Amino acid sequence: MGKPLVIIIAAMAENRVIGRGGAIPWSIKEDMRRFRDLTMGFPCIMGRRTWESLPHKPLSGRLNIVVSKLMAAHQAGNTDGENGGVLVFSSFNDALEYCGACEKVFVCGGASLYREAMPAADIMEITLIHKTFRGDVFFPPIDPEVWEEKTVDEKGDFAFISFSRKKQAE
Ligand SMILES: NC(=O)c1ccc[n+]([C@@H]2O[C@H](COP(=O)([O-])OP(=O)(O)OC[C@H]3O[C@@H](n4cnc5c(N)ncnc54)[C@H](OP(=O)(O)O)[C@@H]3O)[C@@H](O)[C@H]2O)c1
Repeated sequence: MGKPLVIIIAAMAENRVIGRGGAIPWSIKEDMRRFRDLTMGFPCIMGRRTWESLPHKPLSGRLNIVVSKLMAAHQAGNTDGENGGVLVFSSFNDALEYCGACEKVFVCGGASLYREAMPAADIMEITLIHKTFRGDVFFPPIDPEVWEEKTVDEKGDFAFISFSRKKQAE
């Protein structure tokens, strides 16, 4: 089975904050639209807390996959793995393996999933909000030895930045 393109998608503040109190401390319509446009039709993998935080779930038109030991334990014995419109796996690797035949998968947060997915990711679609926020969850540091900025689409208060994993020297 092939490996899908693994794409991390996140919005973060200048101080790398991505969330506070189980929610995202800003609301940017253009960013939400971009999230929808990029992810539409592709599997979206997320952690249990991010799933719980979604105001409208599941994300429509996308296979919603939640990584959670708690939810996986609850669905034990449920043979099709469905759990209210969502597929649940007890590890990120199992979720990724399930998507082996897909062209792309999106990793949609939160912080623990971003940390876990970063070594496997090929691309990161980051919305950088040009402000600092108080928060309790942070995007992991982006190592410039590993990641290169491919495009920067400056929007004023924020920018859409696409990172690609640098090719390893032979
Ligand atoms: N700004 C953004 O782009 C963005 C995007 C997404 C989320 N957020 C924010 O981020 C925050 C949530 O992030 P978070 O880091 O606290 O939580 P999270 O990553 O969404 O969820 C954490 C939970 O996911 C499960 N999990 C994570 N890694 C796992 C693994 N390797 N194996 C098994 N289960 C695993 C565990 O669930 P169990 O305890 O059930 O096992 C864990 O408690 C919220 O504030 C949310 O609004 C921001």
